[in-house]
Amino acid sequence: MKAELTEKFQEKYGRIPAAHYFTPGRVNLIGEHIDYNGGLVMPCAVTLGTWLALAPNHEQVIRFSSMNFSEQAEIPLSDSYTKTGSEWFNYPLGVFNEIQQKHEITTGFDLLFFGNIPIGSGLSSSASIEVAMAYALNHFLNLGYEKVEIPLLAQKVENQFIGVNCGIMDQFAVAFGEAHKALMLDCDSLKHKVVDCNLGDYKLAIINTNKPRKLAESKYNERVSECQAALKALNTEIRLNNLCELNAEKFALHSHLITDGTVLKRATHVIKENDRVHSAAKALNEGNIEEFGRLMYASHQSLKDLYEVTGPELDAVVEFATGYQHVVGARMTGAGFGGCAIALLKKGQEEDFTENLTSFYTDLIGYAPTVYFSEIGNGASEI
Ligand code: GLA
Repeated sequence: MKAELTEKFQEKYGRIPAAHYFTPGRVNLIGEHIDYNGGLVMPCAVTLGTWLALAPNHEQVIRFSSMNFSEQAEIPLSDSYTKTGSEWFNYPLGVFNEIQQKHEITTGFDLLFFGNIPIGSGLSSSASIEVAMAYALNHFLNLGYEKVEIPLLAQKVENQFIGVNCGIMDQFAVAFGEAHKALMLDCDSLKHKVVDCNLGDYKLAIINTNKPRKLAESKYNERVSECQAALKALNTEIRLNNLCELNAEKFALHSHLITDGTVLKRATHVIKENDRVHSAAKALNEGNIEEFGRLMYASHQSLKDLYEVTGPELDAVVEFATGYQHVVGARMTGAGFGGCAIALLKKGQEEDFTENLTSFYTDLIGYAPTVYFSEIGNGASEI
C-alpha cells in the first residue's frame, strides 16, 4: 500500500511524500453505547484502515486529496477553520483546526489519503482518519502531544467540529490497538490494558449489512441525551458522574427515579451491558469462548429491545448466526442503525458461513451483505 500511495502522491503533487502513516479501524467485541456513560468497553483494532502520505509545501495551503473520493480541497493556512458541507476532508480539517488552537502551524501540507474501511459501516472510518491526521501532525511536526492526548483531540473534533457527541472508544481503539489483543478500556478514567484475544478454535467474522448509516443524521445524539436524562433523574437522590458507576443491583434500588419509560429502557441497557463486559473479560481470560459468545448474543438482544439501535438488517445477521451451528456468538458492533455485526465463527467454516449467510440475508433484506475476516491489528503508526 505504501508504494501505491507514494506513486499516486507523486502523480498528484509531482514529488515524493516526506512521511507515511497508517491508522486502523476497529470493532468492539462487547460494551456498546457504554463509552459515553463512563463504563468498560472491549474494542480491538482491525487491519482495515486509513493510509496517509504527506509532505510540507511552501505555499501556505493545505491540500486534501483522497484515492477514494473525487472531492479535494485546497484551504489557505489560517488561525481557524470551519466545516464545509459534509465532505470527507472535514475530518482532517477539524484536526488542523483543533491543533491550530494550541500550536501555530506555519507550514502548508500536501496530503493524500487512502482508506479501505467501508464508510458508514460502524468500523470507525471517521475516528481512523481523525487519528491519522492528529498522529501524523504530532509526529511530523514534533508537537509533543502524549499518546493519550491524540484520541482525546480526535474525539473533540468529532464532538465539536463534526457534531457527533461520540464517546472516546473509537478514537482510543484506533490509537492504542495491538495485534492479537483486545483493549479493556475504562472510559471514565481512561485506564486501559491490553489482553490476549485468544479465541481458541474461533475467529472473528465482520459482517457489513451494507445498510449505510450516518452517525450525525442518526439517532446517536438522541441516545446520548436519553442517558443524560437518566443520570439527571438518578442524581435527584444520589450523586453520580456516570451511569456506569452503578451495577445492576444498585441500579435496581434507584431505578424508580426514572419515570420516563424510554429513558428507563436505555439506562437498563447501559447498566446491564456494562456488567456483561466485566463478565466477558473474565470469560476471555478463562478461555471460555462459549460464555463469551452467550454474552455477545445477550448484548445484541439488549441493543435490540432496550436500546433500539439494531434494525432488520443487523437482526437478520444475528438471527442467522444464532441458528448456524459453527457460530458461538454474534452481535452488532459500533453505534448500530445499520453498519456491521461481528460473529465468532469456527475456523475453517469461512466459506460455508459466507455462502449461507449471504443467501439467508439476501432473501430477507433484498441485497447481499459483505463478510470480512480481518485480523486484529495494530494501532496508529508511521509506516
Ligand atoms: C460509535 C461512537 C462510539 C460509541 C459507539 C457505541 O461508534 O463513535 O463512541 O459510543 O458508537 O458503543
